[in-house]
Formats: sequence, structure tokens, C-alpha cells
Amino acid sequence: MAIRKIRVDDDPILRKKSRPVEQFDEKLFTLLDDMKETLAKAEGIGLAAVQVGMLKRVVIVDYDGRYLELINPEITKAEGEQQADEACLSLPHKAGKTTRPLTVTVKAQNREGKWCLYSGTDLMARCFCHELDHLDGVLYTDRLAPGEKVFITEDV
Ligand code: NI
Repeated sequence: MAIRKIRVDDDPILRKKSRPVEQFDEKLFTLLDDMKETLAKAEGIGLAAVQVGMLKRVVIVDYDGRYLELINPEITKAEGEQQADEACLSLPHKAGKTTRPLTVTVKAQNREGKWCLYSGTDLMARCFCHELDHLDGVLYTDRLAPGEKVFITEDV
């Protein structure tokens, strides 16, 4: 496993659309393992492959202390609404209040290619939405709640 470099700020790759994963091979497994290690080191709760420079529809989420591997993920259900501060490993030292669904259900493949369903509320719903947005080149700064602005933080 290896730590990969996280792309930040106005790196143009962050605005690109990621491609579906078709090959469930060693290269994918290495990417998944490296992303987990990179996420753990960065002390984040979610990471999309594009953030380490790979335009593949792959996301890792820290889900209650275990890492979910979400391959070709899609939101199948979204309910309610929440507003909360959000930050991103690719936009260091910044945060902003976004509007997101309160609860979402995500369908994704695991590394064996099997489709699984995951549900998340509050923070996990925000995390799923945030990470899946990365796959389409969307950042949380595009989802700011009405009247909200990005603000500077010290720790993110
Ligand atoms: Ni992010």
C-alpha cells in the first residue's frame, strides 16, 4: 500500500467527470488499498479516486469505523433536507454550509463486483453525497446553502 498525493484547490482534474470501472483487477485493488491508507493518513471520512488523480468512479467512505469501498456508486433514494458545515481534503483550510438530503441510499459495487446497498443519515448522508459529487466534478462549494459563503478554518 502507498499514500497517494491528494489533488487540491484549482487542480483542473477535480472538475472532470470520472469513468465507470469495468475491470475488477489488481490495479483496482491497489487503488482501493492506497485510497484507504491515504484517507486514514489525512484523517478524513471520505475520498474519491479523482482526488488522487484517477478518473475512476471509486469512493472510500469511513462508515462507522470501517472503510466502505464504493465502486460505480449511485444514489438510489434521497429524503429530507439538512444544512451543515462541510469541508473537503481537496480544499484545505476551508469549509462552508451546504444543503443536502437528510438520508440517502447508495447502490455500489464492491471489489468482487457485487452490488450492495448502504444507507446514511446526517453526516453519512452528507459524506455519500459529497463523495459521489466528486465523481462528476462537483465540489461542495457548488452546493452552498442560500446566502452562505466559504470560510477559512485552521484545521481542515
Ligand atoms: Ni471532498
